[in-house]
Amino acid sequence: MERIDKLLANMGLGSRKDIKAMVKRGEILINGTVCQDAAAKVDPETDEVIAAGRKLRLRTSFSFMMNKPAGYLSASRDDRAATVIDLISEEHRRLGLFPAGRLDRDSEGFLLLTNDGAFAHALTAPRRHVDKRYFVRYDGILNEYAEQAFAEGVRIDGDELCLPAGLERLGPGEAIVTVHEGRYHQVKRMISAVGGEVTYLKRLSIGPVELDESLVPGGYRELSDKEFQILAEISGLCQKRR
Ligand code: URA
Repeated sequence: MERIDKLLANMGLGSRKDIKAMVKRGEILINGTVCQDAAAKVDPETDEVIAAGRKLRLRTSFSFMMNKPAGYLSASRDDRAATVIDLISEEHRRLGLFPAGRLDRDSEGFLLLTNDGAFAHALTAPRRHVDKRYFVRYDGILNEYAEQAFAEGVRIDGDELCLPAGLERLGPGEAIVTVHEGRYHQVKRMISAVGGEVTYLKRLSIGPVELDESLVPGGYRELSDKEFQILAEISGLCQKRR
């Protein structure tokens, strides 16, 4: 159950103060009855809410795509360092967003922010093997067996065996790497295992959903319904959540 003022404010109908004013004016109906109290609780799954004559599609799950800039931690808070949540507006911070999955502090690109714990959990579960594609710049020269090693599964730090991955060389010192799991510093360690040292890393896509290149570094936008459904489906979270 959710408070009606919080639910509607999160859905972008106005501030909680605005919603209180709507309640006072008798503009909000819950299951056909005029709502008298901005603190009234509703069940977003079953209750019907009409605001200013419009029937609402109630939602509590919010997910955003961010173009993460370098220099920010993929964390909700940190005592010393700036986190990606510092890049979020006051209005969206209220939603309780957190990063689903991580990019290193010096990495850039597609970071998912959500307030939906089940969605984040499903998407980042190790057994899910959701593809992630990265653009990489590196120093050094990758050995001639690098593509084969990636395809067969690179052993990193002489010990951990990674799942088969993709390596596509672009120009000198540039490549696209596709991995299906999310180990600590995985791409950097894989490139290092075949002779290179990553100097720049940007995540381009998660599953079939690509980073919106119109997002400036630090910019973010809500996932479209289609993008959300695609990610929910590939992560095994099939039920419609929005
Ligand atoms: N692999 C890395 O090494 N770093 C990232 O930020 C993401 C994948």
